[in-house]
Amino acid sequence: MASSLVIPDGFQMGAATSSWQIEGDSAGRGRCMWDDFAMRPGAIVDGTRADPACDHVARYVEDLDLLSWFGVDTYRFSISWPRVMPGGSGPLAVAGLDFYDRLIDGLLERGIEPVVTLYHWDLPSELQATGGWVSRETADRFADYAEAMGSRYADRVARWATLNEPWCSSFLGYAAGVHAPGMRDPGASLAAAYHLMLGHGLAMQRLRAVNAHNLGVVLNITPVYATEPSMKAAAHHVDGTQNRFFLDLLAGRGVPQDLIENCAHLTDWSFVQESDNSIISTQMDWIGENYYSVMRVAPPDTGTAEAVGQDALASPGCPPMTYAPRAPLTHMGWEIYPPGMTEVLHRIARDLPGIPIWVCENGGAMDETIDESGVHDPIRRHYLHDHISAVLQARTEGVDVRGYFAWSLLDNIEWAEGWTKRFGLVRVDVDTQIRTPKDSAQWYRAVLQGRDTSD
Ligand code: FCB
Repeated sequence: MASSLVIPDGFQMGAATSSWQIEGDSAGRGRCMWDDFAMRPGAIVDGTRADPACDHVARYVEDLDLLSWFGVDTYRFSISWPRVMPGGSGPLAVAGLDFYDRLIDGLLERGIEPVVTLYHWDLPSELQATGGWVSRETADRFADYAEAMGSRYADRVARWATLNEPWCSSFLGYAAGVHAPGMRDPGASLAAAYHLMLGHGLAMQRLRAVNAHNLGVVLNITPVYATEPSMKAAAHHVDGTQNRFFLDLLAGRGVPQDLIENCAHLTDWSFVQESDNSIISTQMDWIGENYYSVMRVAPPDTGTAEAVGQDALASPGCPPMTYAPRAPLTHMGWEIYPPGMTEVLHRIARDLPGIPIWVCENGGAMDETIDESGVHDPIRRHYLHDHISAVLQARTEGVDVRGYFAWSLLDNIEWAEGWTKRFGLVRVDVDTQIRTPKDSAQWYRAVLQGRDTSD
């Protein structure tokens, strides 16, 4: 292992989760599109359903105590829209609201800052039935829900994220079909991406109106490289759907002109309204970045390993190409490339100047061995060390990055990969629900406790 890791004073360290991936208790909430997707044979590789997940609704006190054991400054979780507003609109569900009250209060009692994500992909089924994010109305429903959450929790939540990774919601969900709702309609996916960003802007305004503070969005900006000069145009297009679409809208520049032209055969873009621009680019207080890997755009006939989510279909309008990740790879097939973290933070700082950045997710599904002495996951420990170093390097170089959340506190349902990919610092046995901190958790804890750890 490389050098020592010194966490600067004031730099926040945390852990992250999301509702559908950990909560379970689907009987205690409305349905969401991931419940529906999970029913489709083959949609989730191992047939995982929403229950029991990590049974977190029943075991949240134990999970809060784990966060205290780590010594995190902050915890990022998401509110399940169908748990607090079943059906996606209308009356609020008291039991759901009370659950998040207890979770937030439990964090505060332990001296941990709550960071809330409002949308980590569990769209109420009723809203998907009326078009989901392809429909402009979903953006309005999202804003209503955001306001309701702001009204309830603004006094106690330190920071709010409207959306998590709208790229995944739109392009993996509506274009590649590998995430809920499992559609393969490239034109619709562009409308979905746009309406997600409109929903973000509307939610920002409604949250601010009810005095919620520290508002932003969490993106997964990803470095995109061409493996050879002939692939530069394709890589530029991928950078458009992956990165520039979101960054340009947030900066008030609208949809990038090259995407409008390259995708003209897929959509007439009639869902874009001039007056939306100022809504979508409502000034943010912070921005989140989830960094896992890079994308290498290669000629279409390049035979390479499969990387989950690296799918040409997820870049509508792209010229023929394939992705060619380079070893070392994680279980997701994602290339391990710490310099990409430094690079991406510089890019966000350049494209959205003046906005403080938090790394809201970073981690990996790696080999681990279990024996009576514990869960041994040296590759994850190295991955975390090297990526935290890469974040701190960007900070030293002048990027205003203020915190880091490891993904994830717990092993959990990795979306379409079900329980086959484990990202947790803490192992979860799905049958017994026993939580066991892995070696990486012990290391992360030592970093947090010492704030100055050498390896
Ligand atoms: C991100 C998601 C998160 C988790 C990680 C591995 O795209 O935001 O929920 O699945 O990937």
